[in-house]
Amino acid sequence: MTFGEEESFKKPVKDTFEEEMKLEIIKDKMNEISEKIDSSEKKPIVEKPEKKKFQIFLDTADVEQIREAHSWGILDGVTTNPTLVSKTGRSFEECIHEIVSIVDGPISAEVVSLDAEGMVKEARELAKIHDNIVIKIPITPDGLKAIKVLSQEGIKTNATLCFSANQAILVAKAGATYVSPFIGRLDDIGHEGMQVVRDIVQIYKNYGFETKVIVASIRHPLHVIDAAKCGADIVTVPFDVLEKMVKHALTDAGIKRFLDDWAKVPKK
Ligand code: G3P
Repeated sequence: MTFGEEESFKKPVKDTFEEEMKLEIIKDKMNEISEKIDSSEKKPIVEKPEKKKFQIFLDTADVEQIREAHSWGILDGVTTNPTLVSKTGRSFEECIHEIVSIVDGPISAEVVSLDAEGMVKEARELAKIHDNIVIKIPITPDGLKAIKVLSQEGIKTNATLCFSANQAILVAKAGATYVSPFIGRLDDIGHEGMQVVRDIVQIYKNYGFETKVIVASIRHPLHVIDAAKCGADIVTVPFDVLEKMVKHALTDAGIKRFLDDWAKVPKK
């Protein structure tokens, strides 16, 4: 008997059995890995995550602005609220019907009831107008109840007047399709609105919440850039911000210089 044999002979049966089992597990794992490597030409082991889309909605009930933005080929949807509708001087129904006829994307229309029952009743009527209608519900206990009921009925909701990540967690759990943090109004009172957006995006990512983040109450083009950088799904912008996004002094100066120089080119 050699020295090694003598040592292993001394090992209790239980230890030897456990080691063999461990070896079997390791062999199985290695086989699994080699199988994955073999089939890696057909399907990569680590699949690339799907690219996220950044969407632009217009925050208005003004159909002329909506038509113009739509003609630019960049408009993904529209959000309205009672204040925006009141600025048009038209009825709510008239505005919403015309907007859905222009834009083929989510159109948010807000309820004005404060109790869950009233919200659900209004929402069901609005949802009948078009499949693209999304019901804006303010975040309150009754709002949560309404979101829950509507999500079970397959009616899309946009949880509005969101000013904190806590509110965003609750509406995601209730089943909201969208949440709208109002960043400009937070900035107005000395809080960093975009930090709330960063927190919501991070939390939703951590737990795989499917609620999409619409950054709302946007005041200027930098808000749009920051929203895109922090991974928000959507920005809803007033028309003047959209105009500022496309405009650049150097583009205008460049066009002028090209045209001035073009005038000097001899024409046949
Ligand atoms: O649509 C809601 C939100 O965007 C309102 O923005 O400018 O009234 O704070 P604002």
